Amino acid sequence: MSAGFVITVDGPAASGKGTIAGGLGRRYGLPVLDSGLLYRAVGVLLQRAGGDLDDEAAAARTAAALTAAQLADPEFRTRGAGEAASRVAVHPKVREVLLALQRDFAAQPGGAVLDGRDMGTVICPQAPAKLYVTAKPEVRAERRWRQLTGQGEAVSLDEVLADIRRRDERDAGRSAAPMRPAPDAVLLDTSEMTIDQAADAARRIVEAARAG
Ligand code: C5P
Repeated sequence: MSAGFVITVDGPAASGKGTIAGGLGRRYGLPVLDSGLLYRAVGVLLQRAGGDLDDEAAAARTAAALTAAQLADPEFRTRGAGEAASRVAVHPKVREVLLALQRDFAAQPGGAVLDGRDMGTVICPQAPAKLYVTAKPEVRAERRWRQLTGQGEAVSLDEVLADIRRRDERDAGRSAAPMRPAPDAVLLDTSEMTIDQAADAARRIVEAARAG
């Protein structure tokens, strides 16, 4: 892998992008940024402090005070955290505060894999390899439902599907860095793929980008 090679992996919730980003990171020896975790942390920490998710200034202050040591909290992986994340993620000031941190991560000498919604469009538009990972909402809901119930959350498949549709709409419909593929991103639909097949397809896309 040449120095400074950045791979962006964007897409909606439970599309498989986290697994794909992790696999690419291991394969190429690159650090992986799970940018969704930053928004999850801001949402949960703000709520924990009694704040309002719609309060942009308070959310931006929470984002500014965020430290790496706080990110290991398992609560950030819950269903409620995903919803809170997408609500604070609409605020331009929150996105602005988190921008430098994400760009610094991308600028590491060896390169990086960036997982999120706006990695290829806003954080690193010059990245040489960009993927946009999708899957049908029903497939994503089932994956997320398995994950959440495996973590011990009591939730129905229908509720998870409703969450996913609401979050897709909010993430794609917001005016600040809406979720969408970068013009030069390669689309990867994982609906009919196993994890191994998706990882393989992602690797081929990255190899093609490296060769080109
Ligand atoms: O990827 P994950 O499901 O953890 O993201 C949680 C939420 O954080 C997303 O629904 C989205 O609203 C927000 N997010 C974002 N930009 C990113 C990553 C996540 O707005 N780069």
